[in-house]
Amino acid sequence: MSQQKALMLEKAKGPLVVSAAQPILKPGPGQLSVKVIAVALNPVDWKIQAWDVLLKEYPAILGLDIAGDVEEIGEGVEGFSRGDKVFCQGFFGNEMAGFQQYTLIPADIVGKIPSNIDYAQAATIPGAFTTAAISLFKAQPEGAGLNPTFDLDIKFAGRSAVIVGGSTSVGQYVIQLFKLLGYSTIIAYASAHHTDYLKSIGATHVIERGEVPVGSLAEAAKKIANAPIEIAYNAVGDKDSQAACIDAIIEGGQVPDVNPEVVENEDSKNGKRVFTIFATPHHPPHREFCRILWKTLPNLVQKGVIVPNRVEKLPNGLAGIDQGLQKLKANKVSGVKLVAFPQETA
Ligand SMILES: NC(=O)c1ccc[n+]([C@@H]2O[C@H](COP(=O)([O-])OP(=O)(O)OC[C@H]3O[C@@H](n4cnc5c(N)ncnc54)[C@H](OP(=O)(O)O)[C@@H]3O)[C@@H](O)[C@H]2O)c1
Repeated sequence: MSQQKALMLEKAKGPLVVSAAQPILKPGPGQLSVKVIAVALNPVDWKIQAWDVLLKEYPAILGLDIAGDVEEIGEGVEGFSRGDKVFCQGFFGNEMAGFQQYTLIPADIVGKIPSNIDYAQAATIPGAFTTAAISLFKAQPEGAGLNPTFDLDIKFAGRSAVIVGGSTSVGQYVIQLFKLLGYSTIIAYASAHHTDYLKSIGATHVIERGEVPVGSLAEAAKKIANAPIEIAYNAVGDKDSQAACIDAIIEGGQVPDVNPEVVENEDSKNGKRVFTIFATPHHPPHREFCRILWKTLPNLVQKGVIVPNRVEKLPNGLAGIDQGLQKLKANKVSGVKLVAFPQETA
């Protein structure tokens, strides 16, 4: 078998079309070929389709969050066998994208799926967890520098942190990483129906969006915090959320912001640092950090320290992805990750 099905974005701002005649690529040195069993959807997928951003070439295959089975092993790769269940973060560009039945991936940024989660749960983790980890842990200027070596003994007991958008996929991993870092007070801003779940994964307090407008969030967070707030995470990415984060922190504090349009020099003010994230292990400056991340992450999941997002399964294999992306675009996805199953494509 040398051909596979893939969901093709045929041209900029064009439709997504299932193609039955895409080549299955052979892994090069250092790479694995992975049979994609589950792939999670991300806001960036619909943004690329709608806005023609990030990609240079079409037709293109999207999809970044991959879980599947090792199909073939490239030269020089050690530690993997055919059939191993793995998860990883793909990349924009057809070789390593997830909305297809087989993909390539460098073996040094792949993890084995822990036995306590399934393929769909595993697919919820890579991109959003990497976003949270790079922005919180990695050294400045790309991160907040809280734990650049992923040293699990580093603790921030007594400290307080805020996460605006606690129920976003990224926000859920940010909450869990603050918990891992030992923060004493972790304040999430989210809809009321997420409160119990966010507390179960590490939020100590949830400020409810329906009760407290975003403009009053900083004041509410300061009342709760048991210490000056040094970090407030904008997992929503809009200007109002960013302003609330800036208001919440002390001088010298930091605001990691998921909005890629944030420019650090322009937005940093009053001695408060606001910075964006380019969260991919394929970006050369992130590679070494992400190698450590992928060595550490499976163990954290196996121990239940990091739990995956809750899953909403999409029907119809690759053909079901388009509808999922429309749902994401319409802001109708609430606290779950949409996951598709490429092998189920008719
Ligand atoms: N820079 C990067 O490298 C990078 C990487 C990953 C993601 N991102 C960006 O990060 C953002 C989050 O991505 P995601 O996948 O984590 O999102 P997501 O899970 O799809 O976000 C959906 C959630 O957002 C919540 N939400 C929407 N508006 C909110 C607001 N104003 N205040 C609080 N919560 C709000 C919704 O809450 P309700 O349930 O209450 O409606 C819903 O639960 C996206 O813009 C994405 O493009 C950037």
